[in-house]
Amino acid sequence: MVRDDPAQALPVLRALSIAVNFRALYPPSHPKVVEGVDAVVGSFEACLKERGSDSMTFLVIDHELLVDDRPIRSGQMYLAPLIRTMSRLGIERVTLGAGLDQEQCHSLIESLASIGEPASTEHVILGRIQLSLAEAGAGGGGGDGRVSARGSQFSEHDIDLAQEGFLRYREDRSGSIEQLDRMLWHFVEGMDQSSRSLLLLGPMKSLDEKLFVHAINVAMLVVAQARSLGIIGQSLQAIGLAALLHDIGKLSLPPTLLDRDEELSDVEWEILKMHTVLGAAQLCGLEEAPPLAVLVAYEHHLRWDGKPSYPVPSVPRRPNLASQLTAIADTYDVMVESRGFTGGVHGEAATRVWRERSETFLDPFLVGNFVLMVAGAEVEMKG
Ligand SMILES: [Fe+2]
Repeated sequence: MVRDDPAQALPVLRALSIAVNFRALYPPSHPKVVEGVDAVVGSFEACLKERGSDSMTFLVIDHELLVDDRPIRSGQMYLAPLIRTMSRLGIERVTLGAGLDQEQCHSLIESLASIGEPASTEHVILGRIQLSLAEAGAGGGGGDGRVSARGSQFSEHDIDLAQEGFLRYREDRSGSIEQLDRMLWHFVEGMDQSSRSLLLLGPMKSLDEKLFVHAINVAMLVVAQARSLGIIGQSLQAIGLAALLHDIGKLSLPPTLLDRDEELSDVEWEILKMHTVLGAAQLCGLEEAPPLAVLVAYEHHLRWDGKPSYPVPSVPRRPNLASQLTAIADTYDVMVESRGFTGGVHGEAATRVWRERSETFLDPFLVGNFVLMVAGAEVEMKG
């Protein structure tokens, strides 16, 4: 191995990935987390010694990881989650210096596990790029205010760009997933900052607006539910993205089928139901799409009680947790839209979901949790 071979940094990066995963799963004082932090510090010290240097810089450029400006040619698949996380958090560069201790390492891991705001410390320098929806595409959209973010910090320009990024999936599937992930977290972070609004977008007129608004509302409601169940870090990120993509198969169906006031014929209804398998099959072929997104696209119309629904799995099964959370948010958002509720969240609509769908289509425990969550947000909005 030549001196300054970037592959020398692989043990450090591997230890960092593992520690971030542990922190996403366990509380900060859990032995696994402590062990993970120690492994990062230990491997970093060994690496510096081997390289005869006093610092190391990781840089993400165009989905590639560079160590001290030299690309790592191996282990990229293993490092992909770390690269994705850094991109999502807008962390372009991480410099670790000699003297890195457990406390500073712990702070870095908290940042990468999406717990707390990323911040530099004495021996950990984070170089952040400005996260902007402008990265999602050129052009500013119409900006006519048809879709509004009630009580939120989002501008119409933000929303137009996000919608444009979402609809770009029709032409450029492989290029759009990561942009959609960033767009979702821009909205989620905005939701955090204005906790008074949980469900943000509406009303909408065109089909494209409806598809986009439904996707983002469902994703945000799923993120809120997942957080209320204690899910954090990379698992939360995967669940949120999967929820955003749950109906993505609809973007490949004829618009006339999706935007129809009259009842669908039997044949048309069968075609509409295909959005589940279509979306799952498309996402299956995309490296950037998490496997969970494939499952949620396929399962989000399966019933909790296992009775016939669509699609029909070869082996009957209950939908996984992310699909169930998505089904609850989906049912709620459709109810809010179809019953003419406007703006914000509605305890009454959530209660209807519970009354009409709990124990049949939807898991009663999860719907109960959802009702409580919406009621809490509603009280907060009034307060
Ligand atoms: Fe659907």
